[in-house]
Amino acid sequence: NSTSNAHTIGMDSPRSTPSDTIDINWDTIGFGLVQTDYMYTMKCSLGESFSKGELVPFGNINISPCAGVLNYGQGLFEGLKAYRTKDDSILLFRPRENASRMINGAERMCMPSPSIDQFVQAVKKTVLANEKWIPPPGKGSLYIRPLLIGSGSVLGLAPALEYTFLIYVSPVGNYFNKGLSPINLIIETEMHRATPGGTGGVKTIGNYAAVLKAQGVAKAKGYTDVLYLDSVHKKYLEEVSSCNIFIVKVEERRIIVDELLNADEVFCTGTAVGVSSVDSVTYLGKRVIYGRDGADLVSEQLCSALTGLQMGLVEDKMSWIVKL
Ligand code: COI
Repeated sequence: NSTSNAHTIGMDSPRSTPSDTIDINWDTIGFGLVQTDYMYTMKCSLGESFSKGELVPFGNINISPCAGVLNYGQGLFEGLKAYRTKDDSILLFRPRENASRMINGAERMCMPSPSIDQFVQAVKKTVLANEKWIPPPGKGSLYIRPLLIGSGSVLGLAPALEYTFLIYVSPVGNYFNKGLSPINLIIETEMHRATPGGTGGVKTIGNYAAVLKAQGVAKAKGYTDVLYLDSVHKKYLEEVSSCNIFIVKVEERRIIVDELLNADEVFCTGTAVGVSSVDSVTYLGKRVIYGRDGADLVSEQLCSALTGLQMGLVEDKMSWIVKL
């Protein structure tokens, strides 16, 4: 495991020492929490701006039972990944986009948010402090989980008076249990993930609690995950519990479920999931299996283009990569 000291971080940043070792089998690592050394924390009051954060040892946080996040779900999360390259650089993929999405979500959830620069600097510090937990090239990535929560007490329904921005990290491998094998989805027709005017368009924590029931039922029946339909027409595809859905067309638009069933190829994407090919979709008891005869799957091309960029193996013509 690399414990390179090639990267520098601020004076307030604890970091691992070259003698630190970790005991992980990188070939079997999945998507579960592996506790790392440090997390980042920054607080501010309602109506003020975030100013100074710090790295602290990873551990439980002290929060009032009356906190806004616990009582009224005032919370957002983000997800991004850091990759180690063969020359021992550390790369982030478009972290400013995650920061922008958090700012947008915070506005919807009545929370102050870190600025883009504060967010990216905090991500960099947290990654560097936990550098030894970044898997070797080709063995996975360091999943970075920024959280923004209403941590202040609030009994009557109102925005909390204090907010906490936190970042923790965990080394991860493949999201789904069967590695990179194509996944099997079932379409949910009764429960919905988002409604017009609701919060489906922002990454608030409650959106994810709302999918657990359908996901649990589907998993018990052997499906990998659930695909949701829109709540008004019940025919347009929305997203999968843990990722986005694509059917192979060069357009961004609403897709009717019949088009999905007749597609040549279907795949999902997400920060955690990566690019995952879909083997089958089950809708109203009927299972459609997607042919794999053509070797040139769009999902495979996209997956290698994306991971090539993320791992520093192909030229970054879009300036999407941030090197630490
Ligand atoms: C993402 O990858 O965008 C996620 O939200 C993943 C999470 C549900 C584990």
